[in-house]
Amino acid sequence: MKYFIANWKANKTYVEAADWTGQFLNQLNLNPQAINKLNNDQVKIIICPPLPFIIPLKEKFKNQKNVSFGSQDVSEFEKGTFTGEITAYTLSGLIEYSLIGHSERRKNFMETDIVLFNKNRLAKKYGYKTMYCFSNQNQILPKDADFLCFEPIEAISTGDGKGKNEKVENILKLKINMNLPTDTKFIYGGSVNEENINQYLNHQEIDGFLVGGASLDPLRFFKMIFF
Ligand code: PGA
Repeated sequence: MKYFIANWKANKTYVEAADWTGQFLNQLNLNPQAINKLNNDQVKIIICPPLPFIIPLKEKFKNQKNVSFGSQDVSEFEKGTFTGEITAYTLSGLIEYSLIGHSERRKNFMETDIVLFNKNRLAKKYGYKTMYCFSNQNQILPKDADFLCFEPIEAISTGDGKGKNEKVENILKLKINMNLPTDTKFIYGGSVNEENINQYLNHQEIDGFLVGGASLDPLRFFKMIFF
């Protein structure tokens, strides 16, 4: 099973998100082989849109196996008097996955390892699979994260869709050095798109991809997954 995680970041209005979904589903319905890949557990798609879109988008994909939803972040607080926070408790029942520790959160919101470990703990407590991001080998990682997402800072695109892709051999070396438990999924991300994904796809050490810019276009994202 390969995982394709769409991280939409702070992009799209609801109208645009609904349009994305319509186009993606159209492609899927025209392509029985793609549907088979989902139904046979060859691929799994996890969409992390802005939170208000989760309920309506989930409804549109409700009949399709192996399309799930995740949050891009979760609160470090459990529940209660934390105005503006969206907690793991609040989201329980709505999502199955949560991204934690994306480098943009570490940088722009000063999220420290302590804060991120707390987020991971709460997300796990409320039953999500956590997709914990890191950008180099020196970062401390929680032992119980379900997915570890390696995204070198210089590989992440800053809106232009172009970052410096990490060499496959470096990714594989890092993965081997980490000596992960067999059930921890290892994900790579950073400017992965429909043109460069092939160099990463055939390595079984890489369980999937965290895709930002290229996931915003339904046709590009579809192509990455199914062609
Ligand atoms: P990118 O983003 O694919 O646009 O580089 C990936 C990410 O930041 O998760």
